[in-house]
Amino acid sequence: MMPNTDAILVTPGEKNSFRQGSVPVVDDLRPGDLLLEVVAVGICGTDAEICEGLYGQAPAGHEALVLGHESLCRVVRAGADTARFKAGDLVVPIVRRPCPERCPACAVGRWDECMTGHYQEHGIKALDGFLRGRLVLEADAVVPAPAALGELGVLTEPLTIVEKALERALQIHTAPGHPQTGLVTGAGPVGILAALLLRSRGLDVYVVDRRPADSPKARLVERMGGHYVDDSQTPFEKAGPPGGFDIGLEATGYAPLVFRALSALAQNGVLALTGVTGGHHTLEVDVNLMNSTMVLENQAMVGSVNAARAHYERAVQDLAGFQLQFPGLLEQVITARHPLAEFEQALQKDPDDIKTIVTLG
Ligand code: BGC
Repeated sequence: MMPNTDAILVTPGEKNSFRQGSVPVVDDLRPGDLLLEVVAVGICGTDAEICEGLYGQAPAGHEALVLGHESLCRVVRAGADTARFKAGDLVVPIVRRPCPERCPACAVGRWDECMTGHYQEHGIKALDGFLRGRLVLEADAVVPAPAALGELGVLTEPLTIVEKALERALQIHTAPGHPQTGLVTGAGPVGILAALLLRSRGLDVYVVDRRPADSPKARLVERMGGHYVDDSQTPFEKAGPPGGFDIGLEATGYAPLVFRALSALAQNGVLALTGVTGGHHTLEVDVNLMNSTMVLENQAMVGSVNAARAHYERAVQDLAGFQLQFPGLLEQVITARHPLAEFEQALQKDPDDIKTIVTLG
């Protein structure tokens, strides 16, 4: 008989259907498989949306989905042909898996650019997630994390989102001697990780939120040598560098902020969008001005979703780099911890919270 493991299950499309249950763990490993125990899972806006019944898809033939996609796991047992791994190693599972058709993007490992839309995402779309005690994954579906990172390895997946967004922005921003200035809208986990990444690349960074200047988020930004702007007091356009921003990373998905960030770009500036919002928001925008400014100033706005293996590998290295460059700072990004049994509390967010994690192992 297969052993069971505790899990958080949700019925996609059904509001507040999340519950604790148990799911079986396959424990006879095929060659190439790893038996993993989950150490920690980060909770994000996507999980909240799935719990609201607004997003998510159960695996084919199932009514329920195991939730959780930002995870850190430990190898319990490595099957044959997994020479790179041994028991005790920390690993980060990759969220998105290629489409069954193996479209040209998925065929070369760029599932983040899947062309059929039939990709699968652990804990989100058609594949069970990581809010469970144990699971089996192919070794190809994980990235090793240095032991020194410990629990902080759970920040890898949100950082992959930023790694890819910044890569896309830098593919466009090729002006010599630049970028020098960065704008980050939103001081949530993606925003704070974006600010750290831009700071580690030497940019002068401005982070915009609506918390007071003495709030923990503001202090965190200042500790990394960034400028914090409480937009409810001072519009960030007034607080930033006079020439505007070379790179913008938008991490709120709030439409008015998107257009303000676009207008605040410098000559050759690029704004990368990472936030997703449901529903509708109508805005009046001077499209002529937007068009001519973007053309005459070589500006671009680019969307970015998910991440490929290379972004995970870079994220793991960058987290280790942040620990050296900004000692003790990453620890402050994790602001709340809950055991699996307190999943409902883990979904509640205080405005000063950055990343909430569920701890399992
Ligand atoms: C995840 C991504 C995923 C996206 C869309 C985000 O919360 O971090 O990996 O691609 O949701 O489902």
